Amino acid sequence: MGKCFLIKNVRGREILDSRGNPTLEVDVVTEDGIIGRASAPAGRSRGKYEATEIRDGSKRYHGQGVQKAVKIVNEIVANLLKGKDVRFQREIDQILIEYDGTEDKSKLGGNVLTATSLAIAKAAANSLNIPLYKYIGGSNARILPVPMFLYVCGGKLAATDLDFQEFNAMPVGAKSFSEAMQMGCEVYHFLAEILSKKFGKYSLNVGDEGSLSPPGVSDPEVVFEAILSAIESQGYGGKFVLALDAAATHLYNYESGKYKFRGKELDKNELMEIYIELARKFPLASIEDPFHEDDFEGFAEITRKLSNVQIVGDDLFSSNIRRLKIGIKYGAANTILLKVNQIGTLSEALDTAEFAYRNGYSVLVSERSAQTEDVWLAELAVAINSGQIKNGAPVRSERVAQFNQLLRIEEELGSVAKYAGESYRNPI
Ligand code: PGA
Ligand code: ZN
Repeated sequence: MGKCFLIKNVRGREILDSRGNPTLEVDVVTEDGIIGRASAPAGRSRGKYEATEIRDGSKRYHGQGVQKAVKIVNEIVANLLKGKDVRFQREIDQILIEYDGTEDKSKLGGNVLTATSLAIAKAAANSLNIPLYKYIGGSNARILPVPMFLYVCGGKLAATDLDFQEFNAMPVGAKSFSEAMQMGCEVYHFLAEILSKKFGKYSLNVGDEGSLSPPGVSDPEVVFEAILSAIESQGYGGKFVLALDAAATHLYNYESGKYKFRGKELDKNELMEIYIELARKFPLASIEDPFHEDDFEGFAEITRKLSNVQIVGDDLFSSNIRRLKIGIKYGAANTILLKVNQIGTLSEALDTAEFAYRNGYSVLVSERSAQTEDVWLAELAVAINSGQIKNGAPVRSERVAQFNQLLRIEEELGSVAKYAGESYRNPI
């Protein structure tokens, strides 16, 4: 006893993410030989307020290598953390944040902070022999999140003609998480049939997160109609709601002040009308990043106008408590997308989530478009009782790994497990 929780070593290595790009994995080893291992995911549709990733910029892997980040872990982080107790997450994260000392985490790197911080939490959970979601969330962690299934993609994440980035659906009418998975998978496979019949076999090509890719379609209404018809023909009419991630930062031109949409240039009001029309015609329950990442006023306006819709800030908040505080003052959005590597450490992400809850905002725990097989994301969603998780399509192993972990957690929690269902925005 005594010594067993102390850190003996911290090691980094370069592994691959689901896009076949390098990413950082960190092992934290205790004096007892217990290992906590975690890796950093990576975004493609990134916002400018995110923590900086350390990448090599050299010839190998087209500049995407993370050997520099590995060196930071092995030569700096290991020295900072050796001898520290893995159970002291907050203190350890604080040491890393203070050493980094930058607003954008550019000294140690957001990828170094995320992989190290989660590896510390896992080493503690493993040492204490309790699941990660209970270690982070305590005995009250019991809510199984509603999965926001990604069915069709556009924008930066798929080769389609769709400007909006993600067309999702949420099985809020399921009775359990496992039933939600069944419903989501059945709809995915039937939607594939519908799309390939209607738009040809190339619809079956998949985007970064396993989404389907109907060619020649640019109208969001056509996509939502197809998704709804797949839902209905599987007997799930009324049991799903729809969700959109416009990722409008990437449609916005700062010089003209206009948004690119279906070959036209739209001003903010015209784009607003499109959202209002979609919400009028469809059971659209959630809209993420409807306007660009600096437009707090636009977010506030749509939050007022579509008062029944969940308005999610991704690029807008970048999981950063400082940006969330600004948003709360404006009344911008009513939900924060939580991506740990946008901010850096686990402790900072937990602060952001708690601050959101205390101010009446919901939290949507989210993957990045490139993941690894590491399942800390699923554990985090249950740990903080978020009630909802965005994890791409219900296909491809890096996505399915998270869903499978949630199935295991549901089984383990047994009678105290609660599927968030219709109350995904406030599931307690
Ligand atoms: P990512 O974006 O590619 O940065 O992970 C996904 C999203 O916009 O939610
Ligand atoms: Zn987004």
